[in-house]
Amino acid sequence: MAVVAIYSIKGGVGKTTLAANLAYYSAMISCRRTLLWDLDAAGGAGFLLGVDARPPKKTAGKRAESIFSREQDPAKLIRKTAYPNLDLLPADESIRALDSQFASIGKRKRLAKLTGNLSKDYERIIFDCPPVLNEISAQVMRAADLVIVPLPPSPLSARAFELVAEEVAASSRPHPPILPVLSMLDMRRNLHRQAREANPGWPAIPLASAVEQCAVRQQPVGAFAPRSPAARALQQLWTAIERKLAKAKS
Ligand SMILES: Nc1ncnc2c1ncn2[C@@H]1O[C@H](COP(=O)(O)OP(=O)(O)O)[C@@H](O)[C@H]1O
Ligand SMILES: [Mg+2]
Repeated sequence: MAVVAIYSIKGGVGKTTLAANLAYYSAMISCRRTLLWDLDAAGGAGFLLGVDARPPKKTAGKRAESIFSREQDPAKLIRKTAYPNLDLLPADESIRALDSQFASIGKRKRLAKLTGNLSKDYERIIFDCPPVLNEISAQVMRAADLVIVPLPPSPLSARAFELVAEEVAASSRPHPPILPVLSMLDMRRNLHRQAREANPGWPAIPLASAVEQCAVRQQPVGAFAPRSPAARALQQLWTAIERKLAKAKS
């Protein structure tokens, strides 16, 4: 089992979009039993997969935070999606209380332990992270095998990436490998072209209406525009992630 975190200190950079689309390719292309774990109450990762993330009646009251406070089995909260091999662990507003909970329970590796418990059911767990730098992100770093950092293309991309990398390194030692990804790349724009040229080795996802459409159709790009350039870029990124995971584990 491997855990991939999609993380940035910033909001609006494409984390949730990447998380949902990469989870889709993990399940559909790599045929991995995959769990998309939404750690951002405001994020909507489930929405992008067409899952109604409100708790069903029988689990009402057992909100996302209770997974953490009582070390109960998160499996009870997991939802199936329309896609084979792809499940969702939704967030809700209670997740906002997580930061203080993590601190008060004093368990530095609670999230890592919970993901470990899920390894019998899943081969890939993908975290859609909130844009925070606190105990939640520190827990994420202790649980993740690989951290993907989406960066809007700008002359400051490399600097922005270094800042995240420094924070990650400070929050857990040893820290997981970190992969920067240029998100929303628009080659018609000068500054974007410059960012691309300055970082030729970084994977890039184009700015594309097909990607925006995910939120309208509540589907990953691969489900409705599988041959679009954006779908190909997302699929290539997932393949690169699988390669990195294989290298890290060998
Ligand atoms: N490659 C892309 N092309 C076009 N729009 C994108 C792309 N990636 C993300 N977006 C849009 O940008 C907005 C923010 O994306 P989101 O994934 O919610 O970011 P985050 O999770 O980092 O806050 C959304 O409206 C999303 O549809
Ligand atoms: Mg988000």
